[in-house]
Order: sequence, then structure tokens, then C-alpha cells
Amino acid sequence: MARIPKELVDQIIHHADIVEVVGDFVSLKRKGQNMWACCPFHHEKSPSFSVAPAKGLYKCFGCGKAGGVVQFIMDIEGTSYVEALKYLAKKYGIEVQEEEKTPEQQLAQNEKDSQFIVSNWAKDRYHQLLQKNEEGQSIGWSYLRQRGLNQTTIATFELGYSLDQWDDLLKAATAAGFEQKYLEKTGLVVRREDDNGQDTGRRYDRFRGRVMFPIHNISGRVIGFGARTLKPNDKTAKYLNSPESEIYHKSDVLYGLYHARQAIRTEEQCYLVEGYLDVLSLHQGGIKNVVASSGTSLTDGQIRLIKRYTDNVTVLYDGDAAGIRASLRGIDMLLEGGLNVRVVLFPDGDDPDSYIRKVGDQKFKEHLEQASHDFIQFKTDLVSREAAQDPVKKAEAIREVLQSIAKVPDPIKRQVFLQQTSQTFGIDEQVLITEYNKIARQTAKSPASLPGLDVQKPRSGSASATGQTPATARPAPRPMSPEEEAEALMYGASPEDLMGGGGDLQTLTKEDLEPVPDVQEQCEREVVRLLLLYSAQPLAPDVSVAQYIFGQLDDTPFKTGVYGDLLHLCREELTQGRWPEIRILIQHSRSDIRSLVAELATERYELSPNWTTHQIHVPRELDLLQIACDNAILRLNKVNVERALAEHMDALRHPMDEATLDGHLQTIRALKQMDNQLAGMLGTVLSRGA
Ligand code: CTP
Ligand code: MN
Repeated sequence: MARIPKELVDQIIHHADIVEVVGDFVSLKRKGQNMWACCPFHHEKSPSFSVAPAKGLYKCFGCGKAGGVVQFIMDIEGTSYVEALKYLAKKYGIEVQEEEKTPEQQLAQNEKDSQFIVSNWAKDRYHQLLQKNEEGQSIGWSYLRQRGLNQTTIATFELGYSLDQWDDLLKAATAAGFEQKYLEKTGLVVRREDDNGQDTGRRYDRFRGRVMFPIHNISGRVIGFGARTLKPNDKTAKYLNSPESEIYHKSDVLYGLYHARQAIRTEEQCYLVEGYLDVLSLHQGGIKNVVASSGTSLTDGQIRLIKRYTDNVTVLYDGDAAGIRASLRGIDMLLEGGLNVRVVLFPDGDDPDSYIRKVGDQKFKEHLEQASHDFIQFKTDLVSREAAQDPVKKAEAIREVLQSIAKVPDPIKRQVFLQQTSQTFGIDEQVLITEYNKIARQTAKSPASLPGLDVQKPRSGSASATGQTPATARPAPRPMSPEEEAEALMYGASPEDLMGGGGDLQTLTKEDLEPVPDVQEQCEREVVRLLLLYSAQPLAPDVSVAQYIFGQLDDTPFKTGVYGDLLHLCREELTQGRWPEIRILIQHSRSDIRSLVAELATERYELSPNWTTHQIHVPRELDLLQIACDNAILRLNKVNVERALAEHMDALRHPMDEATLDGHLQTIRALKQMDNQLAGMLGTVLSRGA
């Protein structure tokens, strides 16, 4: 068994930065002292996987996986300690001296290691053959050049060539000391069976006379190959691929992701294409955030992979109608995965590879900009065109679109799509919503995930906000146990870290939990603005805006002096039996009150931060008065709850006896519950507003 000297291990661990190492596999967002992401080890919708940079540790509060840099690589790759160290050494340019043994013996510590090593070796050999061998040069290399690929691309993607012989690889691998077992397990070599399916003991190479496209996992290890024939009339498949193996799970791999992941993150966009050549041509043309599904239909695993790096995916498909129809289902899955999906089509007969070579990099990029459509809009147009004037077809077309909309997890986005759809088809929105709810009910896998919509007009009173509409009825997140909480705090989670810990934010923006300095001020301002401008407006037969707001506020303290004072003035007016009026209050003796009133009365209505982040057109404000009131009050309450939460969390940092600790934890749990509840209500309110 190979060993890496202790000093070298120390050096590797010293150089490896946990944020960098983990950051290659998930998109980490800073919140408080730590970084957070959705856990790469289990399925989840809200982040409970955290990295503590100062401590060099990662921990998932959902599934419990935890450790340092080396452990992380072992966990994510399923490799041994030594292989994980080698990975890190390579990442940080640290040379690991190996003893002279057969390549396989060198580091193989488990089955997977051996398969990684033999795949890597084969990749190197195929690459050498392409670059140096006469047949490789004249056939493989010249083919790739003729396809427009340059040396840099060939080197970056480690393309190769397999000689047109039955056992070239088998012989070379055997000579290099590799066991047959691993050649077979990785599918590089195939056992020949007789007519009865008995092993004849003979073996031959799977890949012969083909251009080799190594398939990398996210950490850059070769796990399999795609291989293209170069014979125009070959009776076998154009592409031959490695079979599934312990290291190659096709449903969890996207071709090109290793080379694209950085660009996907910085561009906040992932282009999804079908073929190997599409990836290579686009990458060479400077579009590096591109991955391929490799011709098969998309899987959940692939979608989760994309989601680790971005929420935005643009599907690039060749233009023929049949192809588009066939891919609609896969695109629905992207929506279901919570991704924002756009579509770009190419002129008939062109795929991204042929198109970029035809028009050049610049024109291609322009096309990506200009021809990109939101998927739902695109699908709506497509099916509505198909249905044309036929009412039966039209009904079916609408149902198809509604089915796609039902996949979108975010209720706000669903509302927007429904509005668009009603416009495109010229159908009353209420009718569409009724139809939608039928479909949503049918397609829902479980009642808990039913993405229904609230069609009722909001009633007055906070009860309407609490009434769980299907839009927010989701599986409740599992709350942290007190031990977990205490552990999280010991581990170094800051109060802000924990605030969102157990909560599913659903439709709410993350900003709600970030410590934005003056959210509270904003909320207070909004409350007095509504009071000042609309106090006499009825929300329900006997409830005015002023009554509603004061009824909901109780004695919530306002932190910003002038807003608190104006609130107080409004209350006084009401107790005197008068509506607070701009024309009176603007005469007030205090200049700061006067100017505030003037400001509030004249400013253009600013969209609520939540609405703007979702890029939603806000309908006329008066229609949304109820929503605006609920939104302002709920947000204000939420800010207050969060502050109290932070204070209690902070208290935990100091030593205390068990009873006090228990008291704090209880309060924290209660507050967190309130916070989640408020988040839920806000989600409902906002979805009504969309
Ligand atoms: N594919 C495959 N097996 C096949 C055919 C296709 O695995 N028998 C996969 C490959 O990943 C291929 C992708 O599907 O890249 C798209 O197929 P296709 O459009 O037929 O090939 P292109 O990528 O366009 O390849 P080329 O341009 O060389 O014809
Ligand atoms: Mn092609």
C-alpha cells in the first residue's frame, strides 16, 4: 500500500482551503460567519450544508455529514484517503512522489480507486495515440481538425483516439500491470461469450478506431468515454459509450460540467446542449458555461447537478419541430427542479455546433441573446400556433401549458406565467386559474406538494394571511432538535446562520434573512405611508386601512423616531374622530414631520423589495391595498421576531446553567416557529400580489 509522507500530508492540508475545495462542488453563499449551500450529499431545497472557513470544517445539519477537506473529497468521490490527498495535491500543484510500482498498485486502496486509475491511464493512452501515433494523427487528429477543433480544445478536453485493432488497449494495459478485472469493470475491455452466453475467456477492446471523448466527473476525474466512429457507413452506432460502472453513473453526469462549472457560476447561467461536439465548439468559441445531456433524456440527478451551480438554464436545441416536441418533457423536469428555464432554437438543420461554425463566435453569441425565450412563453406560443383556430386542440394546448406551469415550485412565478398564458390565449385569468387548479390537483404527487393557487379575494384580517392556501402548503421542514441547535452553535454557527436553519424560505427571497441594516426602517416607513395615503380606504365593509393597521400592529415599537412620531400623530387624529390627512399633517410644527409627509405624499410608489426581486409587474396599488398592508405588517413583525431571535442566540454564547440554556432554546424555538410562520404568510401574501 502506498503511503504519503506525513510532512507532505501536512503540506497538502495546510494549502487546501475548505471554501475553495467545497466551492468546486457547490455554490456557497456567505451568511454570517459561515458559508451555506444545499447539501451535495442529500436532497434538499433549502441550505443546511455549511462550511466554517475559520475552522476548516464542513457540516450538513440535515444529513450529518461533516469533516475537513480530505474527508469532503472522500465523501463526495467515494475514494480512499490517499486518493483524496492526491486530488488535493493536484489541485494545489503539490508534487506527490510515488514509489516505482505498477501504476495500479501505486495507490489503489479500494475498488473505485482502481477504476479511476485505469480510466485515467486509458485516457492518457488514447490522448497519446491521437497526438503521436501515425494512425491517430492521420485519422483521429485530422478528423477533429476538420471538425474545427483546435489544439487547445483537444488538450483541454483530453480528447483521444483508439487504434483500429481488437486488443491494442488490452495488451498495453496488461503490459502496464493492470488487472483485467478493472478493465472489464470500466467497460474498456469486453469479454467474448459464445453462442450460449458462456465466457470464452477471450477479451477484446470496446473502443476501436474511434475518436475518444473522456467523460469527467465534477472533480475532473475520468469516469468513462464517449467514442465516435469515423467511418461514414459504419453499421454500428455513431457513438459508443462506456457502460455504467461503479464510477460511472450516467444519470448523474453531464458532459463538460467539470470544464464549465466555474463559468456557470460566474455567468449565473448554464447552457444545455445535446452533444459532445456542441460542448467543444461552444467552449472553443468562448462560451464556457455549457454542458451536454449526451443525447439521452435529462434525469433528476443531472438537474440537481446544474442546480448546485446556478438557478438559470438555457436549453439550446436544433430547430425541427419533432425534436422540440420530444424535449418538452425534459424541460418540464427542469422547471420542476426549480430552475428558470429559457430556450434558444437554431435554424432548421443546424445544431449549436454547426451553427457556431457557420456564423462565427460573435454572431452566435448575439443569437443566444436575441433568440432566447422564456420556456413557458415559448411553449405557449408553440402550442397555441399548433392549435390555431381549432377549439378542441386549443383546449388541449392550454392544458399542456398549464401542466408545465404546475411544475414550477415558486407560486409567484406560477402567477406570472398564468397571467402571460391568459394573455396569449385570450382567456379570462379566473377561468384559467380554475382549470389550472384541476390540473395541479391531478398532477400533484402528494397533497403536500400540491402547487395550487388561491383564487379567493383576500379577506380582511390577518386570518386571511394565516389561512394556508395550497400555494404555500409544503412539507414542513424538519425543525432542529435542541441538541442539534446547541451543536450548531458550538460548531460556530452565528445567530444569523441559524435563523434560516430549519426554515424553508419557499417564495421568500433570501434577503429576508440577511442582516440588511435598514429593513426595519423600510417596513416602518411603508406602514406610515399606507396610513397617511389610504387611511380611510375600506378593506372590507367595516374595516378601513387605518383600523386594520392599528388593529394588527398592537403596540409594536417603531425604532425610527420620526416614523414612530408620525404613527403616533395618526393614531391621535383617529382617536379625535378624524382621518389622518395629508393637508393637515403637512402643516405640522416639526419640520422633519412636514418633510416626511411631503415625501411620502409625493414619491413615486416604490415596489416592495420582494416584488422587484421577482421581476413582477405590480398591478395598480389600490387593488393591492390589502396585500400591501399585510406585506408591510408581516414584514415588520418578521424583522422584530428576527431581532429577538438574534438576541437570544447571542445570549447562548455566554456560559450559563442548564435551566437557563433550556429557557433560551425554548424561546428560540418558539421565535423560529413564528419566523417560519411569518415567512409562510408573506409567501401567501406575495403570491396574491403577483
Ligand atoms: N449519442 C450517443 N449515442 C448515439 C448517438 C448519440 O450517445 N448512438 C449522444 C452523443 O453524446 C452525441 C449526442 O447524443 O453527442 C447527440 O447526438 P447527435 O446529434 O447524433 O450527434 P452530434 O453530437 O451532433 O455528433 P456529430 O456532430 O459528430 O454528428
Ligand atoms: Mn452535430
